[in-house]
Amino acid sequence: MDETHYPDPLPRHVAIIMDGNGRWAQQRHRLRLFGHKAGVDSVREAVETAREVGVRYLTLYAFSTENWQRPGLEVKGLMTLLRTYLQAELDTMKKNGVRLQCFGQKDRLPDDVRKMLDKVIAETEHCSRLHLNLCLSYGSRTEMIGAIQEISRKCASGELKPDDIDDHLFSDHLYSTGQPDPDLLIRTSGEQRLSNFLLWQLSYAELYFTDIKWPDFRRDQFLEALEEYAGRQRRFGKTGAQAETTCASS
Ligand code: IPE
Ligand code: IPE
Ligand code: MG
Repeated sequence: MDETHYPDPLPRHVAIIMDGNGRWAQQRHRLRLFGHKAGVDSVREAVETAREVGVRYLTLYAFSTENWQRPGLEVKGLMTLLRTYLQAELDTMKKNGVRLQCFGQKDRLPDDVRKMLDKVIAETEHCSRLHLNLCLSYGSRTEMIGAIQEISRKCASGELKPDDIDDHLFSDHLYSTGQPDPDLLIRTSGEQRLSNFLLWQLSYAELYFTDIKWPDFRRDQFLEALEEYAGRQRRFGKTGAQAETTCASS
């Protein structure tokens, strides 16, 4: 696909539940970690494709709060892969203008991973071509409860009044503060659920489910999802005719 043929309109923000690594490996009679390794190549390709076509925000669900319950060896393997990925990608991210942020409980990550993560976050802070949000030890309910606690504390201290609370204020207390909500959610591997991912932020996202497992989700599959998004009509509660007028005038 050459530059003039990118899907239009593009979502500003794409969120992806990268699922199916384990089953991909098992189908090949390999250990689950083999699937996670192959999944890292898909992560690289997703970041590169988003940057290439002009998606401005990419949020990747890499490890959930619930994933801590997996066998210790798998969790350890995933953490090692994460550290290696961050180490290997730092220079490329800087060169390509990719700014890394982490959504999730950073303090639950092993020390060495957290240090590497902090380093990449700090060194890419000035980058602005693509905002890459890596969700690590992320859970949407925990995120929202954290926001409620912080807002409650501000109300108790008098810094805020209960009437000040509106959807903007709530959004500003989430990890995604300052960022637009995702326009498109992609989930690979055939599962059709949210698994505690961005429950607030996805309120009006277009949902795209594919049977393709994450290690096989590459540039072409990403572009196909963007193409499908381009054909959707987003109505935000209005009628189709009203939505058409809004699109035409925007
Ligand atoms: C997604 O693949 C990666 C993580 C959740 C860390 P899975 O590991 O969930 O793969 P399946 O769903 O078991 O195939
Ligand atoms: C969701 O996948 C979390 C990530 C992709 C990191 P899971 O594989 O953990 O989700 P469930 O358990 O099938 O809902
Ligand atoms: Mg899974």
